[in-house]
Amino acid sequence: MNPPGAEEAKEAVRGATDIVQLIGEKVRLRRVGTRWSGLCPFHNEKTPSFTVNPERQIWHCFGCNKGGDVFAFLMETDKVTFPEALAILAERAGIELPKGDRGPGAAVRDRLLQANALASDFYQASLRSEAGAPARAYLAGRGFKGSMLDVFHVGWAPDQWEGLATALGKLLPAKTLEEAGLTLRRGDGSHYDRFRNRIIFPVETAPGKTAGFGARAIAPEDQPKYLNSSESAVFRKGSLLFGLPQARSAIRERKEVLVAEGYLDVLRLHEAGFTNAVATCGTALTLEHARGLARFEAGVVLVYDGDAAGVRAADRGLDPLLGAGLAVRVLLLPAGEDPDSFLAKSAREAFATLLAEARDVPGFLAEATIGGGGPAGADPSLEARVRRFVGLLRRVEDPIRRRLLVRRGAEAFGLEEGVLLEAAAKGMSGAGLKSPRPARPAEGAPGGAAKPPDGVPNGAPEGGAAASERPAVTAEKLDPAERELAARALTEEGALRAILEAGGIACFVTPELREILAPWIEAGQPPLGGERDRLVDEHPLVRGILAVHPVEDAVPLDEQQRTARGLIERLEERRLRAAIQVLDRAIREAEQSRDASLGRLVAERRDLASKLHQRSQSPVS
Ligand code: UTP
Ligand code: MN
Repeated sequence: MNPPGAEEAKEAVRGATDIVQLIGEKVRLRRVGTRWSGLCPFHNEKTPSFTVNPERQIWHCFGCNKGGDVFAFLMETDKVTFPEALAILAERAGIELPKGDRGPGAAVRDRLLQANALASDFYQASLRSEAGAPARAYLAGRGFKGSMLDVFHVGWAPDQWEGLATALGKLLPAKTLEEAGLTLRRGDGSHYDRFRNRIIFPVETAPGKTAGFGARAIAPEDQPKYLNSSESAVFRKGSLLFGLPQARSAIRERKEVLVAEGYLDVLRLHEAGFTNAVATCGTALTLEHARGLARFEAGVVLVYDGDAAGVRAADRGLDPLLGAGLAVRVLLLPAGEDPDSFLAKSAREAFATLLAEARDVPGFLAEATIGGGGPAGADPSLEARVRRFVGLLRRVEDPIRRRLLVRRGAEAFGLEEGVLLEAAAKGMSGAGLKSPRPARPAEGAPGGAAKPPDGVPNGAPEGGAAASERPAVTAEKLDPAERELAARALTEEGALRAILEAGGIACFVTPELREILAPWIEAGQPPLGGERDRLVDEHPLVRGILAVHPVEDAVPLDEQQRTARGLIERLEERRLRAAIQVLDRAIREAEQSRDASLGRLVAERRDLASKLHQRSQSPVS
């Protein structure tokens, strides 16, 4: 992945950076023995739990558990990516990074960025030229003039076929302009401008770095209304947010970012003082967008039109945002209004009021109303909304945030917290590796069905704070079949073969076991003597398991395989039985409350029972 020399360059920069000096510029450090200590810059504290270890070149906070090397520190404090951190520290240390260290595509990216930078200058100059008067008039007519146009480097593509091609053709090869998506080639090999008579919004990633352009038609007959640069090595709409460089500092200060849909919305929001606003470039929010925003450790407010399309867009945005660990609220404007049109009519105070009242996720899902299809799709019934909520809940990895969402969900939907927790636990996805709950079945696990928490036979629903804690699992607490299978996975190649056949790591439901076993299952080979000793040293759980099931040697491979298959079958059967019990309880509850889901639950139970039946007819124990 990295070009040769990248690792060396990284080490050279690390070696040349004085970690105490670097961190000392942002944190007041005191020497304590061989280390340094201070108040953690990443969380609020009164007594220092932040330490720097110059020998090992690392830092760590015992309070918030953040830590890492010099690069990680800069990435945290300055919210930059690793390559950026590397570049900053290299420059600081006076080390020149070999060109190759920026990756194979760096030369292409440089070329495109240079073309875009020149194009941006050209468009800006055009807007301010004599010929740009109609474009200025258009913008002024919509209430945009002066400073916001400068802040966002707004421009105008002249109403000519070859305005840019001619102007920039003197500076750059025609091929480069074409590659940057600024011109198109005719059959005869000549080039013409992609954007003509359009207002130009440069999409920037940093001051002076223009990834591409959004271009709005001025003449109503020009279609489509917006044209964007074509996707290229530097213009990837799925990861770009318009206005991010301009919003960066406000997002950090306010610990909140407003995400709107349109370029003009961002301009208007900034003008009204909401300088923490950004927008996607005509695409849905992606996980990449969300991950980029997550680096700010700020909450996200989706600011969308309250019409059906806006509600759907907001709803779709929840998956990536919650998946990236962000706290999300939704501000739905009156139907038919976007932030621009709203602020053109109403005072900023009115918007501020709406912002203060933005709904959290449960509130949005419970309340958003539109004709013909709610947030959960075509069916805006309470049940559909709750199901959508439960699906989203599963994306939230942080146990505390998940717990708080459950509480709010219970309020918003008028349901018991226990019901939501139970529903969320059911069919929990494989991401459950980091799940805070013990013994959760994985999607695609044999049977794929629910297992009662902690192996409690009738799986009492979890409630209260217990759900957000994970008591240490001991060997005695494990399901005996799962425990024996783990022991065999740690010692027998035949067992690993059987496990791989049956779906791999999904055969295990206990998160701790999955974590420990995953690498060996992936490798299809049990840990060898020394490696096993290390596992025994590191994990009391492994120690406990092997104490109950000592290693037998000299068992033939196929016998190992057969034994493991038997265990896997037994586990699956128990999971099916447990799932049936859970369903029975849900059915009883649904009967009592005449819940609409009754029919579905009964059908699901029938399915499981028939699976169990088939199983008991097969010869395996
Ligand atoms: P809108 O149609 O809501 O436009 O599209 P707008 O931003 O409010 O612009 P005005 O107020 O009509 O001038 C919202 C966003 O969707 C993308 C653009 O990013 C736009 O800002 N879009 C829209 C396109 O990419 N292509 C289109 O044809 C239309
Ligand atoms: Mn608009």
